[in-house]
Amino acid sequence: RVVEDAAIASARTMGMGDPHISDQAAVESMRRCLDTVAIDGTIVIGEGERDKAPMLFIGEKVGAARNNGAAMIVDIAVDPLEGTNLCSTGGAGSITVLAASEQGGLLHAPDCYMEKIVVGPAAKGSVDLDAPVKHNLKAIARRLQRGVDDLVVVVLDRPRHQKLIADIREAGARIRLISDGDLSAGIAAAVAGTGVHCVMGSGGAPEGVLTAAALRCLN
Ligand code: FBP
Repeated sequence: RVVEDAAIASARTMGMGDPHISDQAAVESMRRCLDTVAIDGTIVIGEGERDKAPMLFIGEKVGAARNNGAAMIVDIAVDPLEGTNLCSTGGAGSITVLAASEQGGLLHAPDCYMEKIVVGPAAKGSVDLDAPVKHNLKAIARRLQRGVDDLVVVVLDRPRHQKLIADIREAGARIRLISDGDLSAGIAAAVAGTGVHCVMGSGGAPEGVLTAAALRCLN
């Protein structure tokens, strides 16, 4: 319900052209709704540090049973509206995300970038962030039993990815460039039949932790 309400709240702002309003709608809804759930929660990934974000900031206590030692204690990572620009410009693909774990179960990632490589269960363990792009693509292709030229790699369309894009093309794989939303692209890579085989590149670290949590659930 927490996720659904936030998604509905931001959907009401879809296409209004103001990313701030869209984000705020999702944040306020999620914050309100979290306090109706019987948990003793701590936000470990949220809207930023306390001095920058009025709610859902890192370290904020949430839940109807917060500070109640007998309640279920959870760490929570949220991205109330992932793909803020997509929502405000009426594009497809913005989502509301929340992951919860036992205390200490989620990496505390500050608001910086993170190098990412995302593959689904079939290619699990075959890739290495430090390996050359070509090497990783060959390993994924082998596991998926298809040619490298039959792989679709999602990459955020950013100038910083110029070399990565050149390396992927040189290896012979196809690229789907996206304007935003490497979190849902990562989830797509883990689900057979989506036509996405891998996500590569650097993107938001908080989104990276949430992607990893989703992929853990999807094996
Ligand atoms: P927001 O919804 O917070 O704007 O994030 C969208 C996003 O595209 C993420 O999916 C991605 O990880 C990050 O921004 C990339 O950051 P940047 O736009 O600075 O390259």
